[in-house]
Amino acid sequence: MSFTIVEQTTPRLNRSELAVPGSQPKFFEKAAKGDADVIFLDLEDAVAPDDKEAARKNIIEAIGDVDWGNKTLSVRINGLDTHYMYRDVVDLLEQASERLDLIMIPKVGTPADVYALDMLVTQIETAKVRTKRIGFELIIETALGMANVEAIAGASKRNESLHFGVADYAASTKARTTAIGGPNPDYGVLADEGEEGGERAYFWGDMWHYATARMVVAARAAGLRPIDGPFGDFSDPDGYTAQGNRAAVLGCEGKWAIHPSQVTLANEIYSPSEKEIEKAKRILQAMEKAQKEGHGAVALDGRLIDIASIKQAENLVRTAEQIGAAG
Ligand code: GLV
Ligand code: MG
Repeated sequence: MSFTIVEQTTPRLNRSELAVPGSQPKFFEKAAKGDADVIFLDLEDAVAPDDKEAARKNIIEAIGDVDWGNKTLSVRINGLDTHYMYRDVVDLLEQASERLDLIMIPKVGTPADVYALDMLVTQIETAKVRTKRIGFELIIETALGMANVEAIAGASKRNESLHFGVADYAASTKARTTAIGGPNPDYGVLADEGEEGGERAYFWGDMWHYATARMVVAARAAGLRPIDGPFGDFSDPDGYTAQGNRAAVLGCEGKWAIHPSQVTLANEIYSPSEKEIEKAKRILQAMEKAQKEGHGAVALDGRLIDIASIKQAENLVRTAEQIGAAG
């Protein structure tokens, strides 16, 4: 272990993160009654410029008026390059109730972006004597943001999670995409001809692998949650599940839902299965027994269990407990 201990952010369930446009208050109650772990009310790209002010008012009212249950509640503010952003933050923190947990900052490009927001939020919290400290969710969705992702992740004690904003990332990098967050059939490899000739196999690749993996490492190195972004085709649950599983394998803890139907899928993908929980518990029991008996290494089901497998088992059991506690 390094002498540097990575401090972990506030633990929260973040399997599903439902986006709800601030200009559509009719969806707020339904979202609050649904199964999303986190809801973000959007002031940014889902809201047209003419609706920004009304959306801000809707959100401020709803934060206090709607019963959000035990959900984590976030608001996506506008980008630092717009003139909406300062008022989003000032009005939200001066007027919205303490029910607000997080602010989501889009298109973060440099650590200074986060620093600036931290300063503004700190001033308002102090002036208004807000007791709940607001956390930050940061969307990594530009080439600049990805180039600076490690520094961004460590830029504020308020940081809780990094999100891969695949749609804007594609636009920023000029990547060729066919659907938001999905694969592109042109990103693949053609296998050599087999000995007997015949058709050459073509394997699709994951064009988002580098970006997702890079963000996961930056997030984990700073003790933050890495969260996968949107999948645009909400009539394709299989496509969503495949993309969600692939991000989970790389270490993401959850995924955005741009439609309520995707919430159930995300919760399923990012919840450990009964079988996994059972195995994790057996690993921990086997380790405890070995320690009592003075053995260093342990075998379970014919396989060696090392310290890394114990840590993974502990993480899994902790997640299962969080899910159980959330009901
Ligand atoms: C999210 O904001 C995205 O651009 O994908
Ligand atoms: Mg975006």
